Amino acid sequence: MTDLLDEPAVLPAWPPERPARSIISIDDLTAPDLTGLVDRGVQFAAGARSRALAGLVTGIHFGKPSTRTRTAFSAGALRLGAGVIAYGPGDLQLSTGETHEDTARVLSGMLDVLVMRTAEDEAIMRRYAEPGGLSVINAMSAQEHPTQALCDLSTLQEHFGRLGGLRVLYVGEGNNTATALSLALMRCPGVRLELRTPTGYGLPADYHRRARAHAARSGATLHERHDMLDLPADVDVVYTTRWQTTGSAKHTTDWRSTFDPFRVTEPLLAAYPGAVFLHDLPAHRGEEVDAAVLDGPASLAFRQARMKMFSAMAVLEWCAAGRSS
Ligand code: CP
Repeated sequence: MTDLLDEPAVLPAWPPERPARSIISIDDLTAPDLTGLVDRGVQFAAGARSRALAGLVTGIHFGKPSTRTRTAFSAGALRLGAGVIAYGPGDLQLSTGETHEDTARVLSGMLDVLVMRTAEDEAIMRRYAEPGGLSVINAMSAQEHPTQALCDLSTLQEHFGRLGGLRVLYVGEGNNTATALSLALMRCPGVRLELRTPTGYGLPADYHRRARAHAARSGATLHERHDMLDLPADVDVVYTTRWQTTGSAKHTTDWRSTFDPFRVTEPLLAAYPGAVFLHDLPAHRGEEVDAAVLDGPASLAFRQARMKMFSAMAVLEWCAAGRSS
């Protein structure tokens, strides 16, 4: 499974002397951290090599389904030299009633990094970071999908060679992908983000406030409408996400009719010659996106999916660097 036998781990002092680096929200990162992680993801995609996690042990605990993120962090950790322990939804004694606090105290004395996905509040993840010895990585919570946003920015950085000034049209629910993407893009100078979200499924007010605070410093802009009217004249990137966000239920019974106009169709994309198409996947062709768009020449969606592993490697390496800095 690993290089652990080749390079035995030096276990950190217990209790830990200082908190480990964690990414539970994009807002846990400084601007240089964010830029550095985006660039490092691109470097890994271009062939950079690292054994930064040799001797470390990464836990992968996913309480919800995942194809891309779980594989990206598992494969990324192995490629960086770490050992990996994967826990399914019912594997830990959490399923028999042990508390998150007790689980966190135990895991933080044995693991170095814990990658977590939950449909619940990300505050749960902060409980795992609390004992101090464990780097906790949010692989999707109810509020945010920060490692998706890092991957998305690396995909754009790789394609355009820049993030500053990009014009992005996001079509679909203001879900955990949209919140993280908004926080990340609003750090980038001159970015213009137009959100088109169904009524009742927009970007949460708290994320508007936080994104606008970043925008005020960077010169980026964010506008949201709950219809598909008055679309921007020019965009560089069209982004969508599937209508049924992993781990979340719709709060209205007629949500399909509400979501119906929020599709990335062939005519919509054709209105933006030169624009690229992004999708966090999984996709439902014929719902949020036409097959001809997802599988067409402007689509970076499957490059974006592969970038998840390189971006995960950047995140894991950054967490490991915090243990020695
Ligand atoms: N985009 C994304 O998070 O995919 P998975 O749910 O497959 O991890």
